[in-house]
Amino acid sequence: MRGFAAWALAALTAACVCSATEETASNVVKLTKENYSQFVAEEPLALVEFYAPWCGHCQALAPQYEEAAKELAKSEVKLAKVDCTAEESLCNDNDVTGFPTLKVFRFGHSTPYNGPRKADGIVSYMNKQKLPAVSPVTWENLEEFKAKDKFVLVAFCEELDEASNKELKEFAEANRDALVVGVSHSEALAKELGVKVPGAVAFRSFDEPKVVMQASGALSQTELQQFYDLESLPLLDEVSADNFMKYAMSGLPLAYYFVDPESPTREAEIQKLTEVAKAFRGKVNMVSIDAVKFSSHAKALNLPGDSWPAFAVQNMESGAKYPLSDLGQDLAGSVHAFLTKFAEGGLQPSLKSGAIPEQTSPVISVVTDEFDKWVFDDAKDVLLELYAPWCGHCKRLAPTYEKLAELYRDDADAAKLVTIAKMDGTENDIPPNADIVLTGFPTILLKPAGSGAREFVKYEGDRTIESLIDFVATKGTHKASVTLAAPQEAAATTSEHAATETATPSAEATEHDEL
Ligand SMILES: *[C@@H]1O[C@H](CO)[C@@H](O)[C@H](O)[C@H]1NC(C)=O
Repeated sequence: MRGFAAWALAALTAACVCSATEETASNVVKLTKENYSQFVAEEPLALVEFYAPWCGHCQALAPQYEEAAKELAKSEVKLAKVDCTAEESLCNDNDVTGFPTLKVFRFGHSTPYNGPRKADGIVSYMNKQKLPAVSPVTWENLEEFKAKDKFVLVAFCEELDEASNKELKEFAEANRDALVVGVSHSEALAKELGVKVPGAVAFRSFDEPKVVMQASGALSQTELQQFYDLESLPLLDEVSADNFMKYAMSGLPLAYYFVDPESPTREAEIQKLTEVAKAFRGKVNMVSIDAVKFSSHAKALNLPGDSWPAFAVQNMESGAKYPLSDLGQDLAGSVHAFLTKFAEGGLQPSLKSGAIPEQTSPVISVVTDEFDKWVFDDAKDVLLELYAPWCGHCKRLAPTYEKLAELYRDDADAAKLVTIAKMDGTENDIPPNADIVLTGFPTILLKPAGSGAREFVKYEGDRTIESLIDFVATKGTHKASVTLAAPQEAAATTSEHAATETATPSAEATEHDEL
């Protein structure tokens, strides 16, 4: 709830400017903790705005919201608002972290409002929400229904098949912002479309225009979702910020064809690669990507990043990278061979590693290529700091960390039991045998000694030398400790708190944010 604290503070400082103008005869329902629960629980469809009086976007929305409320009153859709400066706990319960936050409520269940913020836009979005999640499809309206979107789904089940109808409805509700769902109970129509009941047919404006799903039993939400997630992604689309999340969420590895948009062979290669993508459908998703605009993304996938075309696969769950920089003469053939090996588990992920350094400091410099040697040294408790050269907190920690390493180096007993190490996390990929999720710099971890020990304990204390010594002594297998000779020196470092900086530097953040 950090966001909450931040705006609560802003609310305090801004309170004087906005002596909330009391609205007269509003169509927008005001909700407080006394009546919020009952209101949302009873309304079949309502839109609730969580706002703060001082927020500019909220002020801009207010007249539009008011106008929409008036219009929507005709269709019995209510618009309500919660003042988060007065109803802190209500807003907390709703995970409100920014203003305004709008949510659609149906009998107490909420989904995010993803619609426009102009009156007519709000009205049309909410009216669409009013339509049944599943529309009836017949011979007569089939063509019209197919034209509703680039991807529409028609499910087939018997009218009295309660299980199928229930699962279908839940699936449709869960996807109602994104997907148009229809249902038909006509055996004849199913036959005409080549599907057995129960099953589903998707109509698309890309790739094959019609795809069929045969249910394994009754319709199930899970099967429908899998079918939708897979078939709504084109075989080979261009990836951009707009559709990247869909690929990320699918969980399948993502294969990138990096190509210069000006390349004269681009179209022809994409056609051939689409055939390859078809062969790996359901195992790997394939996309093309503007190599010039996203060259930094190619580098992040451990491609050289300066010659095109190039190809790489990334496991979207583990982050493991598989670059293929030499595409040879037959691009589609190389990609097919590469993906075949990948799908069989026959490829090793590529790991970026800094050059093996000379050890000149008491702090051991670890690179990926020597990770096992230093970090997975079974004999030692190993303290590892993952840092970034640009990270200010890391720079401030450096003298303390160096001093800590000196203490262990200069203690004959402790030196045999403890290693103090660091690794530049921007130059070195974390090897797959190390279960580390890097989310910020610095990250400090202890790998306790022990045969085959691969677990890390994360350090979350203050960045003082005493705390670090205590951590190694209590969490390490050897319980090795060292004594601080000059306590007054330690006192000077006690102000550094356990703050971290995100694992993406701000300069690079913009590049990565695009994807
Ligand atoms: C909830 O309470 C507030 C404050 O008393 C009131 O202004 C508002 O009209 C009430 N809303 C409902 C839906 O009863």
